Amino acid sequence: MKSLLFLSGYALITYLPSSIAYPGMKDSLSDLHRAANVPRADAKQLIGDLKTLKDTQLTTIGKDIKAIILGTKDARSNTIDTSVPPGTVDSAACKADLCCVWKWISYEMTARFNGTSGRCTKLARGAVRLGFHDAAVWSNTTTYGGADGSILLTDEISRSDNNGLSAIGDQMKTWYNKYHQYGVSMADLIQMGANIATVVCPLGPRIRSFVGRKDNAKAGPTALIPDVADSADKIIKLFAAKTIDVHDLVALVGAHTTSQQHFVDTSRDGDPQDSTPGVWDVAFYGQTTGSPPPRVLKFASDVKLSQDTRAKTEWQQFIGAQSHWNEDYAKAYTRLSLLGVNNINDLKECTQVLPPERTAFVNEDQVVLDMWLQGQFNQLNNMVDDAIMLTGIITTNP
Ligand code: HEM
Repeated sequence: MKSLLFLSGYALITYLPSSIAYPGMKDSLSDLHRAANVPRADAKQLIGDLKTLKDTQLTTIGKDIKAIILGTKDARSNTIDTSVPPGTVDSAACKADLCCVWKWISYEMTARFNGTSGRCTKLARGAVRLGFHDAAVWSNTTTYGGADGSILLTDEISRSDNNGLSAIGDQMKTWYNKYHQYGVSMADLIQMGANIATVVCPLGPRIRSFVGRKDNAKAGPTALIPDVADSADKIIKLFAAKTIDVHDLVALVGAHTTSQQHFVDTSRDGDPQDSTPGVWDVAFYGQTTGSPPPRVLKFASDVKLSQDTRAKTEWQQFIGAQSHWNEDYAKAYTRLSLLGVNNINDLKECTQVLPPERTAFVNEDQVVLDMWLQGQFNQLNNMVDDAIMLTGIITTNP
């Protein structure tokens, strides 16, 4: 359980870890509301091979994933392996351990995703978006597509939907060329990348991470990625066809909490979608419906969604409710990351390789960031994008 203290406007946000939360303290009023068991409108649908397999046929992991996507099991885990890998990636000891190669990959990704400010970098944010864009090229009327690596194994990446993803795409291809020989699929690399990036972003959930997805060298169907100009109704229908209900959609778009846009309005290159880019907080929800600092650029699609009668209640409930959002995002992303995967029951788990989550974070350079958010210090644009400590002084977060 965590608590929020808003100390001075946007200047300082401190999240207290469970160790200093007092018994009975709730994340926020929203969590209290939620605890009253607000009913959910939509029944969760099964996906892939889970649709046809009987419970008696399910592996332990198959059962866990089924419970996660039906909403009855937490998709987060603190199971962590802090030991160094059993050997170099080429060693027999490493090859004998399915998750060893992923440990090496996790080290590399974590190093690239963590900025000197402690916020997550543009590559991290790109990795989360890339995970979405690979998996979401699927619907219940398509017979192929989904989390199958095709976004980088074909020319899908050059579709206009994917503007802004070329840097993370190139980095992911470099990792693939290095690790594919050890049995790593592009589909898994992309989804593991999204989960590692999420937890590297401060306050981000540590989502259980499964491997064993199959690659597909066929480009996915078109017109399945939402556009920033789409109506709420169109977006809700698009996600419904991916088995993602409104509740999960509202949780997923919260990923824009970390975002800095480059293509929606090129005259405002690098403008963030809330006042704390690179931080996995819930400021995005309140600022999308409120009046954030001038440099915050609200996506039209997010604003429309926040006002839609089907989405509004959940949107409001995520305001100030970090723990509620993290829990719901983790479940929704697990579903998203398995769209089009038809061997869910055979997947294996390598959650233990993920770095630890950071439940407490202080933006130590928020004073400078606040001035940047007011439209000053434009010369810092690239530094903000790269999550570099703006004061140049690095101290230790609590
Ligand atoms: C409602 C549907 C959505 C629309 C219309 C949408 C649209 C966009 C657009 C236009 C950008 C900015 C790209 C740029 O100019 O550089 C963006 C960024 C981003 N989106 Fe979405 N998105 C949606 C849902 C999602 C979901 C479901 C996720 C993740 C689960 C996600 C993750 C991200 C992230 C992390 C970024 C930031 C990338 C960066 O900072 O480089 N988005 N999105």
